[in-house]
Amino acid sequence: MSDTFLAHAPRRTFAIISHPDAGKTTLTEKLLLYGGAIHLAGAVKSNKARRAATSDWMEIEKQRGISVTSSVMQFVYAGTRFNLLDTPGHQDFSEDTYRTLTAADCAVMLIDAAKGVETQTRKLFQVCRMRNTPIVTFINKLDRPSQDPFDLMTEIENLLGIRCVPITWPIGSGEDFKGVYDRLTRKVHLFRVQSKGSSVAEVDVTDAKDPSLEAILGERQWLQLQEDIDLLDAAGDGFDLESFRSGEFISPVFFGSAMNNFGVGNFLDHFIEMCPPPGPRATDTGTIETSDKEFTAFVFKIQANMDRAHRDRIAFLRVCSGRYEGGMRVYHVRLGKEMRLSRPTQFMAQERSAVEEAYPGDILGVFDPGTLRIGDTLTMGSSRMFEGVPRFSPEHFARLRVKDPMRRKQFITGLSELVEEGTVQAFAVKGSEKDPILGVVGALQFEVLMYRMEHEYNAPCDLESLPFTHARWVTGDDASPEALERARYGTCVYDSDGQPVALFRSEWELGSAQRDYPKWTFHPAAPLIKATLSGRK
Ligand code: G4P
Repeated sequence: MSDTFLAHAPRRTFAIISHPDAGKTTLTEKLLLYGGAIHLAGAVKSNKARRAATSDWMEIEKQRGISVTSSVMQFVYAGTRFNLLDTPGHQDFSEDTYRTLTAADCAVMLIDAAKGVETQTRKLFQVCRMRNTPIVTFINKLDRPSQDPFDLMTEIENLLGIRCVPITWPIGSGEDFKGVYDRLTRKVHLFRVQSKGSSVAEVDVTDAKDPSLEAILGERQWLQLQEDIDLLDAAGDGFDLESFRSGEFISPVFFGSAMNNFGVGNFLDHFIEMCPPPGPRATDTGTIETSDKEFTAFVFKIQANMDRAHRDRIAFLRVCSGRYEGGMRVYHVRLGKEMRLSRPTQFMAQERSAVEEAYPGDILGVFDPGTLRIGDTLTMGSSRMFEGVPRFSPEHFARLRVKDPMRRKQFITGLSELVEEGTVQAFAVKGSEKDPILGVVGALQFEVLMYRMEHEYNAPCDLESLPFTHARWVTGDDASPEALERARYGTCVYDSDGQPVALFRSEWELGSAQRDYPKWTFHPAAPLIKATLSGRK
């Protein structure tokens, strides 16, 4: 495929959300295989043993066998260029995933056919709903004994409140798994076990009305299929592309077995039609269309020390409009100054390649000398800002102390860099600003922080847990966490933008404050605030 072709191909930018073990790594790898980005499955990471080797950058990930950071991968399928944002699947480490989802236009919700909707799926689903991100469902592992597909649909609808529209429908499961029926093309795709599906699978496709199908499926499964087709058709709710793309509560549903490459090609054939193209994005002064000539982008993730040998720091940008060209100077809206994007790169797992041009939907990684922050907007000169990348309410709080006072300088540098990267949130306490309270959504984030302080900044630390459980940004007439503190409801601290935040020790304490101050709103995440206006054009 020529570079020019790649450059101008339509874009689709999406992420996969799932509970650990549902098969996200496997599906990612198979999508890359079908997109020709890899030639033999196993090249990315196919099992826990290999997992450490490629897409995990940080030492801690290797040790724990989990993916803490996210990467971005590209593949081209049927002339469309897909940007797949990889999100960490570990239950505890979700803030990074949440932020990554703000850069995606669509999510694929991957569900294990035996386990149904699991906790992490629910959390990530809620984040997608907050942003009206359209969600396509892929139900995996049909080659294993699975729940009844009608029960799975009901479970998804009841637990997640989204209407399911099956696009494919399974014929049996486990040892009886015979394939899927495609409701749009009215064809049956027959399943064959692929020994771990290391290359693109050939699938036998036959018409659902094919007289020989009964002999292939056996009478029982053939009759069951006819009955299921009638039931689904009678339910009558077809798939409406426009409502789906506009983020209404419907999800097209596919069935397959990623490990066996089964259902992956068929899924991509439909997904390419369904996945919305990069769309308009809201800013503080109205919407930016992808067709706007001006280049605009926002930072959704910062990763320090990705290459330990070079101690670099990379900011990931999502292009929203216009066209990026190599060497271009851009306008950093928050700081009100021009900057050059240094060595923009795209990522394929661990490999990086230089980028000469990028279009809306693309993700760029740029070397950042410390001027970019999560949520920053870059333009060609206008001073509009994209609506913030959400910050989530921490649930665990602690103070960090450097073990060796001689290493205080490294400690301060490390902590401020990791706070900017979003590994933890820091809250200043009046009178002891140098000793902030740190907050995280998942307790594992503290472990990551301690590990990185020791290994990347050579500043081993002790962690002192604090008894807070909730952080709330308070708005409303005369709303003030300072006043709350005076009235002995919570403790008042200040976030990195200087906004006061109330920390509570329990659900009960928060509940009392809410009851006694009914006119105030207690936000679990920082409401959008405009950064420094000085210097903006
Ligand atoms: P994750 O990234 O969501 O955590 O899941 P991952 O792809 O690592 O898959 C978790 C386990 O489920 C792996 O097995 C994987 O092989 C298996 N798996 C994925 N898709 C399918 C499928 O369609 N059918 C079946 N039967 N299994 C599937 P593992 O034993 O943990 O590792 P491995 O040694 O098999 O790779």
